[in-house]
Amino acid sequence: MSKAAEDASVSMEKIVSLAKRRGFVFPASEIYGGLAGTWDYGPLGVELKNNIKEMWWRRFVRARDDMVGIDTAIVMNPKVWEVSGHVGEFTDPLVECKKCHQRFRADQTDEWTGHYAREHGRAAEGADFSEARNFNLLFRTFVGPVEDSASQTYLRPETAQGMFVNFKNITDTMRRTLPFGIAQIGKAFRNEITPRDFIFRSREFEQMEIEYFVREASWEDHFAHWLNEMRAWISDMGIAMERVHELEVPDGERAHYSKRTVDFEYDFPFGKKELYGLAYRGDFDLKNHFKEPPYREEGEDSFYPHVIEPTWGVDRTVLAVLLEAYREEESEKGKRVYLKLPPRLAPYKAAVFPLVSNRPQIVEKAGEVYKELKAGGFSIAWDARGNIGKRYYAQDEIGTPYCITVDYQTLEDDTVTVRDRDTAKQERIAVPALARFLAEKRKGSISNATQ
Ligand code: GAP
Repeated sequence: MSKAAEDASVSMEKIVSLAKRRGFVFPASEIYGGLAGTWDYGPLGVELKNNIKEMWWRRFVRARDDMVGIDTAIVMNPKVWEVSGHVGEFTDPLVECKKCHQRFRADQTDEWTGHYAREHGRAAEGADFSEARNFNLLFRTFVGPVEDSASQTYLRPETAQGMFVNFKNITDTMRRTLPFGIAQIGKAFRNEITPRDFIFRSREFEQMEIEYFVREASWEDHFAHWLNEMRAWISDMGIAMERVHELEVPDGERAHYSKRTVDFEYDFPFGKKELYGLAYRGDFDLKNHFKEPPYREEGEDSFYPHVIEPTWGVDRTVLAVLLEAYREEESEKGKRVYLKLPPRLAPYKAAVFPLVSNRPQIVEKAGEVYKELKAGGFSIAWDARGNIGKRYYAQDEIGTPYCITVDYQTLEDDTVTVRDRDTAKQERIAVPALARFLAEKRKGSISNATQ
Protein backbone atom coordinates (compact mmCIF):
# COMPACT_ATOMS: atom_id res chain seq x y z
CA MET A 1 0.00 0.00 0.00
CA SER A 2 1.38 3.42 -0.93
CA LYS A 3 2.08 5.98 1.78
CA ALA A 4 -0.82 8.13 0.58
CA ALA A 5 -3.21 5.18 0.59
CA GLU A 6 -2.03 4.18 4.07
CA ASP A 7 -2.64 7.69 5.44
CA ALA A 8 -5.97 7.76 3.69
CA SER A 9 -7.17 4.50 5.22
CA VAL A 10 -6.07 5.72 8.65
CA SER A 11 -8.04 8.90 8.37
CA MET A 12 -11.20 7.03 7.29
CA GLU A 13 -10.79 4.77 10.30
CA LYS A 14 -10.43 7.80 12.53
CA ILE A 15 -13.57 9.41 11.16
CA VAL A 16 -15.62 6.23 11.50
CA SER A 17 -14.31 5.71 15.02
CA LEU A 18 -14.95 9.30 16.12
CA ALA A 19 -18.41 9.21 14.53
CA LYS A 20 -19.30 6.13 16.58
CA ARG A 21 -17.54 7.15 19.81
CA ARG A 22 -19.06 10.62 19.94
CA GLY A 23 -22.59 9.87 18.74
CA PHE A 24 -22.52 11.05 15.13
CA VAL A 25 -23.14 7.83 13.19
CA PHE A 26 -23.76 4.26 14.36
CA PRO A 27 -24.00 1.07 12.29
CA ALA A 28 -27.75 0.50 11.87
CA SER A 29 -29.42 -2.43 13.68
CA GLU A 30 -26.07 -2.96 15.37
CA ILE A 31 -27.27 -5.21 18.20
CA TYR A 32 -28.49 -7.69 15.57
CA GLY A 33 -25.22 -7.66 13.68
CA GLY A 34 -26.08 -4.67 11.52
CA LEU A 35 -27.53 -4.51 8.01
CA ALA A 36 -25.11 -3.88 5.15
CA GLY A 37 -25.41 -0.43 3.63
CA THR A 38 -27.47 1.15 6.42
CA TRP A 39 -26.45 3.64 9.10
CA ASP A 40 -28.12 5.44 12.01
CA TYR A 41 -27.39 9.07 12.80
CA GLY A 42 -26.86 9.63 16.51
CA PRO A 43 -27.70 12.77 18.53
CA LEU A 44 -24.78 14.82 17.17
CA GLY A 45 -25.00 13.40 13.65
CA VAL A 46 -28.63 14.36 13.32
CA GLU A 47 -27.83 17.92 14.45
CA LEU A 48 -25.06 18.17 11.86
CA LYS A 49 -27.24 16.67 9.15
CA ASN A 50 -30.19 18.92 10.05
CA ASN A 51 -27.92 21.97 9.97
CA ILE A 52 -26.82 21.04 6.45
CA LYS A 53 -30.39 20.49 5.28
CA GLU A 54 -31.67 23.64 6.97
CA MET A 55 -28.93 25.72 5.41
CA TRP A 56 -29.73 24.27 1.99
CA TRP A 57 -33.46 24.90 2.39
CA ARG A 58 -32.99 28.48 3.51
CA ARG A 59 -30.54 29.24 0.76
CA PHE A 60 -32.19 27.56 -2.20
CA VAL A 61 -35.87 27.69 -1.27
CA ARG A 62 -36.73 30.46 1.22
CA ALA A 63 -34.23 33.05 0.02
CA ARG A 64 -35.17 32.73 -3.65
CA ASP A 65 -38.25 34.01 -5.47
CA ASP A 66 -37.98 31.36 -8.16
CA MET A 67 -38.18 28.23 -6.00
CA VAL A 68 -40.87 26.28 -4.18
CA GLY A 69 -40.43 23.31 -1.89
CA ILE A 70 -42.24 20.00 -1.89
CA ASP A 71 -42.26 16.76 0.10
CA THR A 72 -43.52 13.84 -1.97
CA ALA A 73 -44.24 10.18 -1.21
CA ILE A 74 -41.40 7.67 -1.13
CA VAL A 75 -43.64 4.89 -2.45
CA MET A 76 -45.10 5.94 -5.79
CA ASN A 77 -47.22 4.34 -8.48
CA PRO A 78 -44.93 1.83 -10.27
CA LYS A 79 -45.76 3.47 -13.61
CA VAL A 80 -43.60 6.40 -12.51
CA TRP A 81 -40.55 4.14 -12.51
CA GLU A 82 -41.46 2.37 -15.74
CA VAL A 83 -41.93 5.66 -17.55
CA SER A 84 -38.87 7.28 -16.02
CA GLY A 85 -36.68 4.49 -17.37
CA HIS A 86 -35.62 3.20 -13.96
CA VAL A 87 -37.27 -0.21 -14.29
CA GLY A 88 -35.48 -0.81 -17.57
CA GLU A 89 -32.25 1.07 -17.18
CA PHE A 90 -31.37 1.81 -13.57
CA THR A 91 -28.72 -0.87 -13.42
CA ASP A 92 -25.10 -1.40 -12.49
CA PRO A 93 -22.98 -4.09 -14.13
CA LEU A 94 -22.34 -6.99 -11.77
CA VAL A 95 -19.72 -9.73 -11.80
CA GLU A 96 -19.74 -12.77 -9.54
CA CYS A 97 -16.78 -14.75 -8.23
CA LYS A 98 -17.51 -18.31 -9.37
CA LYS A 99 -15.73 -19.78 -6.39
CA CYS A 100 -17.40 -17.96 -3.46
CA HIS A 101 -20.31 -16.24 -5.24
CA GLN A 102 -19.37 -12.85 -3.84
CA ARG A 103 -20.71 -10.13 -6.12
CA PHE A 104 -19.03 -6.92 -7.20
CA ARG A 105 -19.72 -3.91 -9.34
CA ALA A 106 -17.95 -4.63 -12.61
CA ASP A 107 -17.27 -0.95 -13.33
CA GLN A 108 -15.54 -0.37 -9.96
CA THR A 109 -12.52 -2.46 -10.86
CA ASP A 110 -10.63 -1.57 -7.67
CA GLU A 111 -13.34 -3.41 -5.72
CA TRP A 112 -12.87 -6.84 -7.30
CA THR A 113 -9.77 -7.26 -9.43
CA GLY A 114 -7.64 -8.31 -6.43
CA HIS A 115 -10.38 -10.47 -4.90
CA TYR A 116 -9.47 -13.81 -6.47
CA ALA A 117 -5.82 -13.63 -5.56
CA ARG A 118 -6.59 -12.30 -2.09
CA GLU A 119 -9.35 -14.69 -1.11
CA HIS A 120 -8.51 -17.82 -3.10
CA GLY A 121 -4.75 -17.63 -3.66
CA ARG A 122 -3.29 -16.78 -7.03
CA ALA A 123 -4.85 -19.73 -8.86
CA ALA A 124 -2.92 -21.06 -11.84
CA GLU A 125 -5.98 -20.95 -14.02
CA GLY A 126 -6.43 -17.28 -13.06
CA ALA A 127 -9.41 -15.42 -11.75
CA ASP A 128 -12.76 -16.98 -12.44
CA PHE A 129 -15.56 -14.45 -12.63
CA SER A 130 -18.90 -14.58 -14.37
CA GLU A 131 -19.57 -12.37 -17.39
CA ALA A 132 -20.83 -8.95 -16.33
CA ARG A 133 -24.61 -8.70 -16.25
CA ASN A 134 -26.91 -5.81 -15.45
CA PHE A 135 -28.35 -5.70 -11.95
CA ASN A 136 -31.33 -3.42 -11.28
CA LEU A 137 -30.87 -1.27 -8.17
CA LEU A 138 -34.54 -0.63 -7.44
CA PHE A 139 -35.79 -1.83 -4.06
CA ARG A 140 -38.99 -3.78 -4.62
CA THR A 141 -41.91 -3.64 -2.22
CA PHE A 142 -45.63 -4.45 -2.22
CA VAL A 143 -48.57 -2.19 -1.53
CA GLY A 144 -51.44 -3.74 0.41
CA PRO A 145 -51.98 -7.29 1.70
CA VAL A 146 -51.42 -9.24 -1.54
CA GLU A 147 -47.89 -9.81 -2.74
CA ASP A 148 -48.28 -10.20 -6.49
CA SER A 149 -47.05 -8.38 -9.56
CA ALA A 150 -50.09 -6.07 -9.56
CA SER A 151 -49.24 -4.76 -6.08
CA GLN A 152 -45.51 -4.50 -6.62
CA THR A 153 -43.83 -1.14 -6.62
CA TYR A 154 -40.48 0.35 -5.59
CA LEU A 155 -38.95 2.59 -2.97
CA ARG A 156 -37.89 5.73 -4.80
CA PRO A 157 -34.27 5.67 -5.98
CA GLU A 158 -34.21 9.47 -6.38
CA THR A 159 -36.42 12.28 -5.09
CA ALA A 160 -36.58 13.83 -8.58
CA GLN A 161 -39.60 11.97 -9.96
CA GLY A 162 -41.86 13.20 -7.16
CA MET A 163 -41.18 16.71 -8.42
CA PHE A 164 -41.75 15.95 -12.10
CA VAL A 165 -45.11 14.27 -11.55
CA ASN A 166 -46.25 17.31 -9.54
CA PHE A 167 -45.22 19.82 -12.18
CA LYS A 168 -48.79 20.73 -13.12
CA ASN A 169 -49.96 20.82 -9.52
CA ILE A 170 -47.27 23.37 -8.82
CA THR A 171 -47.95 25.58 -11.84
CA ASP A 172 -51.71 25.42 -11.19
CA THR A 173 -51.52 26.24 -7.49
CA MET A 174 -48.46 28.46 -7.20
CA ARG A 175 -48.78 30.42 -10.48
CA ARG A 176 -45.10 30.13 -11.34
CA THR A 177 -43.66 31.27 -14.65
CA LEU A 178 -40.40 30.08 -16.17
CA PRO A 179 -37.75 29.92 -15.02
CA PHE A 180 -38.57 28.38 -11.65
CA GLY A 181 -37.58 25.39 -9.58
CA ILE A 182 -39.01 22.75 -7.28
CA ALA A 183 -36.82 21.61 -4.41
CA GLN A 184 -37.04 18.54 -2.23
CA ILE A 185 -35.05 16.90 0.54
CA GLY A 186 -35.71 13.27 1.30
CA LYS A 187 -34.71 9.66 1.50
CA ALA A 188 -33.79 7.59 -1.53
CA PHE A 189 -33.12 3.85 -1.69
CA ARG A 190 -30.85 1.84 -3.96
CA ASN A 191 -30.04 -1.82 -3.65
CA GLU A 192 -26.35 -1.14 -4.22
CA ILE A 193 -24.33 -4.24 -5.17
CA THR A 194 -21.47 -3.22 -2.90
CA PRO A 195 -22.36 -0.57 -0.33
CA ARG A 196 -19.06 0.65 1.09
CA ASP A 197 -16.91 3.40 2.48
CA PHE A 198 -19.06 4.21 5.50
CA ILE A 199 -21.91 6.58 4.60
CA PHE A 200 -20.49 7.24 1.12
CA ARG A 201 -22.35 4.47 -0.65
CA SER A 202 -25.28 3.12 1.31
CA ARG A 203 -28.57 1.51 0.41
CA GLU A 204 -30.69 4.10 2.18
CA PHE A 205 -29.54 7.70 1.96
CA GLU A 206 -30.79 11.25 1.62
CA GLN A 207 -30.79 13.65 -1.30
CA MET A 208 -31.33 17.38 -1.67
CA GLU A 209 -32.50 17.96 -5.23
CA ILE A 210 -33.75 20.77 -7.40
CA GLU A 211 -35.58 20.44 -10.69
CA TYR A 212 -35.17 23.84 -12.31
CA PHE A 213 -37.51 24.40 -15.26
CA VAL A 214 -36.35 26.65 -18.09
CA ARG A 215 -36.94 27.43 -21.74
CA GLU A 216 -34.79 25.27 -23.97
CA ALA A 217 -32.99 28.26 -25.50
CA SER A 218 -31.65 29.38 -22.12
CA TRP A 219 -30.51 26.06 -20.65
CA GLU A 220 -26.80 26.80 -20.97
CA ASP A 221 -27.07 30.04 -18.98
CA HIS A 222 -28.98 28.29 -16.21
CA PHE A 223 -26.53 25.41 -16.20
CA ALA A 224 -23.70 27.93 -15.69
CA HIS A 225 -25.67 29.62 -12.89
CA TRP A 226 -26.14 26.33 -11.03
CA LEU A 227 -22.48 25.39 -11.46
CA ASN A 228 -21.63 28.59 -9.60
CA GLU A 229 -24.28 28.01 -6.95
CA MET A 230 -22.90 24.54 -6.28
CA ARG A 231 -19.33 25.84 -6.05
CA ALA A 232 -20.37 28.49 -3.50
CA TRP A 233 -22.26 25.89 -1.49
CA ILE A 234 -19.24 23.56 -1.37
CA SER A 235 -17.05 26.38 -0.17
CA ASP A 236 -19.57 27.33 2.54
CA MET A 237 -19.52 23.74 3.79
CA GLY A 238 -15.86 24.35 4.67
CA ILE A 239 -14.76 22.01 1.87
CA ALA A 240 -11.45 23.07 0.28
CA MET A 241 -11.92 23.69 -3.44
CA GLU A 242 -8.52 22.18 -4.24
CA ARG A 243 -9.95 18.81 -3.24
CA VAL A 244 -13.00 19.24 -5.48
CA HIS A 245 -12.82 18.43 -9.19
CA GLU A 246 -15.42 19.11 -11.83
CA LEU A 247 -15.77 16.23 -14.25
CA GLU A 248 -17.53 16.76 -17.56
CA VAL A 249 -19.16 13.35 -17.91
CA PRO A 250 -18.53 12.15 -21.49
CA ASP A 251 -21.11 10.82 -23.95
CA GLY A 252 -21.99 7.21 -23.23
CA GLU A 253 -21.26 7.50 -19.49
CA ARG A 254 -24.11 9.80 -18.49
CA ALA A 255 -27.36 8.64 -16.91
CA HIS A 256 -29.99 7.65 -19.47
CA TYR A 257 -31.83 10.99 -19.14
CA SER A 258 -28.94 13.42 -19.29
CA LYS A 259 -27.72 15.57 -22.17
CA ARG A 260 -24.93 17.17 -20.14
CA THR A 261 -23.64 16.27 -16.68
CA VAL A 262 -20.92 17.77 -14.53
CA ASP A 263 -19.95 15.67 -11.51
CA PHE A 264 -18.37 17.38 -8.54
CA GLU A 265 -15.81 14.88 -7.35
CA TYR A 266 -14.06 15.04 -4.02
CA ASP A 267 -10.73 13.56 -2.95
CA PHE A 268 -12.11 11.10 -0.41
CA PRO A 269 -9.46 9.02 1.39
CA PHE A 270 -10.60 6.02 -0.70
CA GLY A 271 -10.22 7.89 -3.99
CA LYS A 272 -11.66 10.67 -6.12
CA LYS A 273 -15.40 10.02 -6.09
CA GLU A 274 -18.66 11.77 -6.85
CA LEU A 275 -19.90 14.20 -4.24
CA TYR A 276 -22.65 16.01 -6.20
CA GLY A 277 -23.96 16.19 -9.74
CA LEU A 278 -25.44 18.75 -12.10
CA ALA A 279 -27.41 17.44 -15.07
CA TYR A 280 -29.29 18.89 -17.99
CA ARG A 281 -32.23 16.50 -18.30
CA GLY A 282 -33.78 18.27 -21.31
CA ASP A 283 -37.52 17.58 -21.55
CA PHE A 284 -37.03 13.84 -20.98
CA ASP A 285 -39.02 13.61 -17.76
CA LEU A 286 -41.93 15.94 -18.46
CA LYS A 287 -42.39 14.36 -21.91
CA ASN A 288 -42.48 10.91 -20.32
CA HIS A 289 -45.01 11.84 -17.65
CA PHE A 290 -47.33 14.25 -19.48
CA LYS A 291 -49.03 13.23 -22.73
CA GLU A 292 -49.90 16.87 -23.44
CA PRO A 293 -47.36 19.67 -23.07
CA PRO A 294 -48.00 20.87 -19.49
CA TYR A 295 -46.97 24.51 -19.71
CA ARG A 296 -48.04 27.66 -21.53
CA GLU A 297 -47.86 31.38 -21.06
CA GLU A 298 -50.29 33.89 -22.49
CA GLY A 299 -50.09 34.19 -26.26
CA GLU A 300 -48.08 30.99 -26.63
CA ASP A 301 -48.76 27.38 -27.53
CA SER A 302 -48.24 24.81 -24.79
CA PHE A 303 -44.80 23.25 -24.60
CA TYR A 304 -42.50 21.08 -22.51
CA PRO A 305 -40.06 23.07 -20.35
CA HIS A 306 -36.50 21.79 -20.08
CA VAL A 307 -34.83 20.89 -16.80
CA ILE A 308 -31.55 21.64 -15.08
CA GLU A 309 -31.04 19.36 -12.09
CA PRO A 310 -28.51 20.13 -9.37
CA THR A 311 -28.38 17.26 -6.89
CA TRP A 312 -26.62 16.89 -3.56
CA GLY A 313 -26.19 13.78 -1.42
CA VAL A 314 -26.75 14.67 2.23
CA ASP A 315 -24.69 11.77 3.59
CA ARG A 316 -21.76 12.45 1.27
CA THR A 317 -21.90 16.06 2.45
CA VAL A 318 -21.73 14.90 6.08
CA LEU A 319 -18.73 12.69 5.25
CA ALA A 320 -16.84 15.37 3.31
CA VAL A 321 -17.57 17.94 6.04
CA LEU A 322 -16.23 15.60 8.74
CA LEU A 323 -13.13 14.74 6.70
CA GLU A 324 -12.40 18.40 6.06
CA ALA A 325 -12.97 19.39 9.66
CA TYR A 326 -10.86 16.68 11.31
CA ARG A 327 -7.65 17.99 12.92
CA GLU A 328 -4.99 16.52 15.19
CA GLU A 329 -2.60 18.79 17.03
CA GLU A 330 0.40 17.89 19.18
CA SER A 331 1.47 20.23 21.94
CA GLU A 332 3.29 19.99 25.26
CA LYS A 333 -0.13 19.25 26.81
CA GLY A 334 -0.55 16.19 24.59
CA LYS A 335 -2.59 15.37 21.51
CA ARG A 336 -5.71 17.36 20.75
CA VAL A 337 -8.31 16.18 18.23
CA TYR A 338 -10.77 18.77 17.04
CA LEU A 339 -13.37 19.23 14.35
CA LYS A 340 -12.97 22.59 12.67
CA LEU A 341 -16.61 22.73 11.61
CA PRO A 342 -18.06 25.99 10.29
CA PRO A 343 -20.07 27.31 13.30
CA ARG A 344 -23.26 27.14 11.20
CA LEU A 345 -22.85 23.35 10.96
CA ALA A 346 -21.54 22.54 14.43
CA PRO A 347 -24.00 20.36 16.46
CA TYR A 348 -23.54 22.70 19.44
CA LYS A 349 -22.86 26.40 18.92
CA ALA A 350 -21.27 26.64 22.37
CA ALA A 351 -20.80 24.76 25.62
CA VAL A 352 -21.36 26.37 29.01
CA PHE A 353 -19.30 25.30 32.04
CA PRO A 354 -19.21 26.36 35.67
CA LEU A 355 -15.48 26.68 36.45
CA VAL A 356 -15.97 24.69 39.65
CA SER A 357 -18.90 22.57 40.70
CA ASN A 358 -18.62 23.15 44.45
CA ARG A 359 -19.59 26.85 44.41
CA PRO A 360 -23.40 27.03 44.18
CA GLN A 361 -23.37 30.66 42.99
CA ILE A 362 -21.12 29.79 40.06
CA VAL A 363 -23.12 26.70 39.14
CA GLU A 364 -26.37 28.66 39.38
CA LYS A 365 -25.08 31.53 37.25
CA ALA A 366 -23.73 29.08 34.65
CA GLY A 367 -27.15 27.40 34.60
CA GLU A 368 -28.79 30.76 33.88
CA VAL A 369 -26.38 31.51 31.02
CA TYR A 370 -27.00 28.04 29.59
CA LYS A 371 -30.80 28.36 29.79
CA GLU A 372 -30.85 31.87 28.31
CA LEU A 373 -28.77 30.87 25.31
CA LYS A 374 -30.92 27.81 24.73
CA ALA A 375 -34.06 29.94 25.00
CA GLY A 376 -32.52 32.18 22.33
CA GLY A 377 -32.63 29.24 19.92
CA PHE A 378 -29.00 28.11 20.14
CA SER A 379 -28.04 24.50 20.49
CA ILE A 380 -25.89 24.55 23.65
CA ALA A 381 -24.01 21.85 25.58
CA TRP A 382 -23.60 21.73 29.35
CA ASP A 383 -20.71 20.10 31.16
CA ALA A 384 -19.79 20.32 34.83
CA ARG A 385 -17.77 17.11 35.15
CA GLY A 386 -14.03 16.63 35.54
CA ASN A 387 -11.43 19.30 35.01
CA ILE A 388 -11.88 22.15 32.61
CA GLY A 389 -9.11 20.97 30.26
CA LYS A 390 -10.89 17.65 29.71
CA ARG A 391 -14.16 19.46 29.09
CA TYR A 392 -12.47 21.62 26.43
CA TYR A 393 -11.04 18.55 24.72
CA ALA A 394 -14.37 16.76 24.76
CA GLN A 395 -16.05 19.74 23.08
CA ASP A 396 -13.18 20.16 20.59
CA GLU A 397 -13.67 16.60 19.42
CA ILE A 398 -17.31 17.24 18.51
CA GLY A 399 -16.59 20.61 16.90
CA THR A 400 -18.18 22.97 19.44
CA PRO A 401 -16.76 26.35 18.34
CA TYR A 402 -16.91 28.11 21.74
CA CYS A 403 -16.63 27.10 25.37
CA ILE A 404 -18.10 29.60 27.80
CA THR A 405 -16.85 29.40 31.37
CA VAL A 406 -18.55 31.05 34.31
CA ASP A 407 -15.93 31.79 36.98
CA TYR A 408 -15.35 33.89 40.12
CA GLN A 409 -14.99 37.09 38.09
CA THR A 410 -18.42 36.50 36.52
CA LEU A 411 -20.02 37.01 39.92
CA GLU A 412 -18.34 40.43 40.13
CA ASP A 413 -18.64 41.91 36.64
CA ASP A 414 -21.04 39.64 34.70
CA THR A 415 -18.40 38.61 32.15
CA VAL A 416 -17.38 35.10 31.14
CA THR A 417 -14.38 33.58 29.38
CA VAL A 418 -15.04 32.43 25.85
CA ARG A 419 -12.52 29.97 24.46
CA ASP A 420 -12.14 29.59 20.72
CA ARG A 421 -11.97 25.95 19.54
CA ASP A 422 -9.50 26.56 16.71
CA THR A 423 -6.98 28.86 18.41
CA ALA A 424 -7.65 27.77 22.02
CA LYS A 425 -7.42 31.50 22.85
CA GLN A 426 -9.72 33.00 25.46
CA GLU A 427 -11.39 36.39 25.70
CA ARG A 428 -13.80 37.92 28.21
CA ILE A 429 -17.26 38.78 27.02
CA ALA A 430 -20.16 40.35 28.91
CA VAL A 431 -22.99 37.88 29.49
CA PRO A 432 -25.65 40.09 27.79
CA ALA A 433 -23.45 40.20 24.64
CA LEU A 434 -23.10 36.42 24.32
CA ALA A 435 -26.15 35.77 22.14
CA ARG A 436 -25.13 38.41 19.62
CA PHE A 437 -21.54 37.10 19.65
CA LEU A 438 -22.71 33.55 18.84
CA ALA A 439 -25.16 34.75 16.19
CA GLU A 440 -22.44 36.71 14.41
CA LYS A 441 -20.00 33.83 14.52
CA ARG A 442 -22.68 31.51 13.19
CA LYS A 443 -23.19 33.79 10.22
CA GLY A 444 -19.49 34.45 9.61
CA SER A 445 -17.63 32.78 6.72
CA ILE A 446 -20.86 31.98 4.89
CA SER A 447 -20.85 33.67 1.49
CA ASN A 448 -24.62 33.78 1.09
CA ALA A 449 -26.08 36.68 3.03
CA THR A 450 -29.29 34.82 3.74
CA GLN A 451 -27.62 32.32 6.04
N1 GAP B 1 -31.84 12.69 -9.50
C1 GAP B 1 -30.50 12.50 -9.95
C2 GAP B 1 -29.76 11.53 -9.15
O1 GAP B 1 -30.33 10.83 -8.32
P1 GAP B 1 -27.38 10.54 -8.75
O2 GAP B 1 -26.04 11.04 -9.22
O3 GAP B 1 -27.72 9.12 -9.01
O4 GAP B 1 -28.44 11.52 -9.42
C3 GAP B 1 -27.44 12.14 -6.71
O5 GAP B 1 -27.53 10.83 -7.20
C4 GAP B 1 -26.56 12.20 -5.48
O6 GAP B 1 -27.03 11.31 -4.49
C5 GAP B 1 -25.10 11.80 -5.73
O7 GAP B 1 -24.33 12.86 -6.25
C6 GAP B 1 -24.66 11.40 -4.34
O8 GAP B 1 -24.29 12.54 -3.60
C7 GAP B 1 -25.93 10.81 -3.74
N2 GAP B 1 -25.93 9.33 -3.80
C8 GAP B 1 -26.20 8.56 -4.86
N3 GAP B 1 -26.13 7.26 -4.55
C9 GAP B 1 -25.79 7.20 -3.24
C10 GAP B 1 -25.56 6.12 -2.31
N4 GAP B 1 -25.71 4.84 -2.66
N5 GAP B 1 -25.23 6.44 -1.03
C11 GAP B 1 -25.12 7.72 -0.65
N6 GAP B 1 -25.32 8.77 -1.48
C12 GAP B 1 -25.66 8.52 -2.76
